[in-house]
Amino acid sequence: MSAIYAFLFAYVKEKLYLCAQNDGNMRKIVFILLFLPLLLAGCSCPQHKYHIAVSQCLDDAWREKMNSEMSRELLLYPDMTLHTRIAYGSNELQCAQIDSFISEHVDLLIVSPNETEEVKPAVSRAYQAGIPVIVADRRVSGDEWTAFVGGDNVRVGELMADWILQKQRAMQRPIHVLEVTGLPNSAPTILRHRGMMAQLQTYAEQEMMPVIDSVMGSWMKDDAYRAVTAYLCTHPDVDIIVAQNDLMAIGSAEAVRDCDAYPEGSVPIMGVDGIVVGLQAIVNGTIECTAAYPSRGDMIIETAARILANEPFVRDTILETLLIDAGIANPMLAQYRARLHDLETLHIVQLQSESRWQQIQSGRTILIVSLVLVGIFFFLALGFLIYSQRNIKKEIKREILPQLEEVQEAIQLNQRDVAFGERMKQIVEDHLTDPNLNVEFLGSQLALSRTQIFRRVKAITGKGPLDYIRERRLIRADELLRTTDMTVQQVAMQLCFSSPGYFTKCYKDYFGKLPSAR
Ligand code: FRU
Repeated sequence: MSAIYAFLFAYVKEKLYLCAQNDGNMRKIVFILLFLPLLLAGCSCPQHKYHIAVSQCLDDAWREKMNSEMSRELLLYPDMTLHTRIAYGSNELQCAQIDSFISEHVDLLIVSPNETEEVKPAVSRAYQAGIPVIVADRRVSGDEWTAFVGGDNVRVGELMADWILQKQRAMQRPIHVLEVTGLPNSAPTILRHRGMMAQLQTYAEQEMMPVIDSVMGSWMKDDAYRAVTAYLCTHPDVDIIVAQNDLMAIGSAEAVRDCDAYPEGSVPIMGVDGIVVGLQAIVNGTIECTAAYPSRGDMIIETAARILANEPFVRDTILETLLIDAGIANPMLAQYRARLHDLETLHIVQLQSESRWQQIQSGRTILIVSLVLVGIFFFLALGFLIYSQRNIKKEIKREILPQLEEVQEAIQLNQRDVAFGERMKQIVEDHLTDPNLNVEFLGSQLALSRTQIFRRVKAITGKGPLDYIRERRLIRADELLRTTDMTVQQVAMQLCFSSPGYFTKCYKDYFGKLPSAR
């Protein structure tokens, strides 16, 4: 559709340009016509939307949950749109993505930094560029951010320690714990470990200190599987595993299963997050428990809306955590499934409303473009009207007016001729019996020269002046002969013929018979 409009627009523009080259005034019209659509397009700008950038460090299940919570909450804010970019665990990529968001002048940035120090400079750049920054889930150090919404990682670590101590108490000996961590420089890795160690230290005086070893699983199931497998092969005495997320916990369980030195399920495992696969793993007995790590995308969006509306907001929102074990995993899973169903329904509603919105938008666009086109054609017609009117005027001036003047002149001449003819005829009629009636006499009466008398009498009567006078005298003579008792001789004398014989000759020539024969 838009291609057709573009073609039409280019065509009209081309035609108008050709006209404009020939006519100065047309140039103004062309300018108006080309300017008009821009003007209308400007007026038809859709209602302003807040463009919210989301920079996600990864695209795992936990983040998918967070993203869908944000999209769902966004339904309440139709003036906001989300643009999400995922860095797939790369600090460089995430920095570049944040920088491009800055150059796109987004209205707000929501960022979950991959690794704290590495991504912090880009976050600071956005903040310094005047973009409000909400740090979600993974903190950045310093003060260059607007708000934080995220879980309590230290508390997660403490829950891990509590679980370790609980296991140790049951075994009644110092136990060997394998910790599987996320990326070494990401905030949750550091804070969860710190929280765990601090909590263990607190109890160290009353309880035995467990042996803690760490391997890196980079937040990924496969990485965790490889790292744990390698460790187990050389350490046959691991009692329990604490993984810093559910995916790494499941990867660790698979490593234990595949390691000959350990019977399947012989090593209790704890995860973090409480995502569906984690709960499922607890229900299945693959892992023993997990620490819930809420994502609350809804709260993030609500905070964004408050910031954009200049309303008061909570700068530091720390979300609570709790331990999920087999006792509550099942009901939680059921609850999740129900919510998932709600989410799906909501998603369908969202898609429907989006497509309806798109329909309205495209309907509006078509209406606007049609109005613009009607406007163009109206002005085009007006332009051509003015243009052709000007041309007609020019043509009238150049060709018809001179002709009209000629006609007018001819009419005036004709009128003068008619007046002259009447006067001349009257003089002739009044002086038919006057022997002085001749060309000179007429010239003196009409104030014209001999030549002018000859030319004009000829023009009016088709005869020379003398022939005309003779003709009038013969007609008067005929009248006299018919209506009076006058003789031929008397009539010839009265009408100034030089002799009766000459009169008789002229009479016969004119009437074809003799005057005596009447
Ligand atoms: C997902 C994730 C979660 C973890 C969180 C910490 O990307 O690795 O599993 O709890 O990030 O930021």
